[in-house]
Amino acid sequence: MSPTMTKTVMVLNGPNLNMLGIREPEIYGKQTLDDVGILVAARAKTHDLTADFRQSNHEGELVTWIQQGLGTVDGFVINAGALTHTSVALLDAFKSVNLPMIEVHLSNVYQREDFRHKSYLSLIANGVICGFGINSYLLAVDAMAKILSPEI
Ligand code: DQA
Repeated sequence: MSPTMTKTVMVLNGPNLNMLGIREPEIYGKQTLDDVGILVAARAKTHDLTADFRQSNHEGELVTWIQQGLGTVDGFVINAGALTHTSVALLDAFKSVNLPMIEVHLSNVYQREDFRHKSYLSLIANGVICGFGINSYLLAVDAMAKILSPEI
């Protein structure tokens, strides 16, 4: 039997997600982004996946990381924060690398302001998970594991 290579999922977080725990806790909860990263890494490990967990407040840095994922990662999970609703650049970056991508949100964006109902990333996302708080990320890791190993 050939040895299996551990697959890598890049888990990206956009603007203001570094403020988790402080920012509007009634919407986003009290746990910090570091807490999320620890839980995501543990969940990824249960699927024999490695999570490369990152956050940036800068659209261009996120674009660069997505581009660098080509040939180095197997898929993406992204909470793009407000850039979800505005960024053609992130959409085009994901189109360029053409790897599986799951969009996540902590809050149920469809229960919120109209401007949060539009997502550029949804146009090409394999799926969207929103409204489950931190568990949205963990469900996305589970879904990505299934995408990357559909036979299991
Ligand atoms: C968010 C929802 C976005 O509308 C908002 O701009 C965020 C967080 C979420 O996780 O619920 O920054 O992506």
